[in-house]
Amino acid sequence: MATNRTFTMIKPDAFGAGNSGAILKMIEEAGFKIIALKATQLSAELAGQFYAVHKERPFYADLCAYMSSGPIIAAILEKENAVADFRTLIGATNPADAAEGTIRKLFATSIEANAVHGSDSDENAQIEGSFFFSSFERIG
Ligand code: PPS
Repeated sequence: MATNRTFTMIKPDAFGAGNSGAILKMIEEAGFKIIALKATQLSAELAGQFYAVHKERPFYADLCAYMSSGPIIAAILEKENAVADFRTLIGATNPADAAEGTIRKLFATSIEANAVHGSDSDENAQIEGSFFFSSFERIG
């Protein structure tokens, strides 16, 4: 059954370019409620843990190095059908394939520097949100 929460990160490229506010505005205007929010920077070790599901993939080391290369914003978002609707809002992983008007089409510059992360399942949304936020750091 679909849950109503997803997890996102604004990645180092978008944070560094000063696009965090514009991206959060798009997220809220699309009907997502911010349940938890923090700015932080992952260590390489923490990035490796977060992306452990991809550890056999050829880009794993690059992905972990990139995601620990600068500050990010992490957030839990709430909306009906949150996981699927958020992935529609952000667009395809590779911005070259992303639909017009999506966050990645507007702000991403490459498949690595692709502006935002969005959970790919309800189960992973729960795991990823708990990775960053304790119960008193989020609403509900
Ligand atoms: S997805 O969204 O999980 O279906 O996308 P996927 O293709 O499986 O990629 C998983 C995450 O790895 C990132 N990625 C890459 N990083 C660096 N280099 C290359 N070539 C590359 N290919 C994919 C991709 O942005 C996904 O990151 P997240 O944070 O999950 O969006």
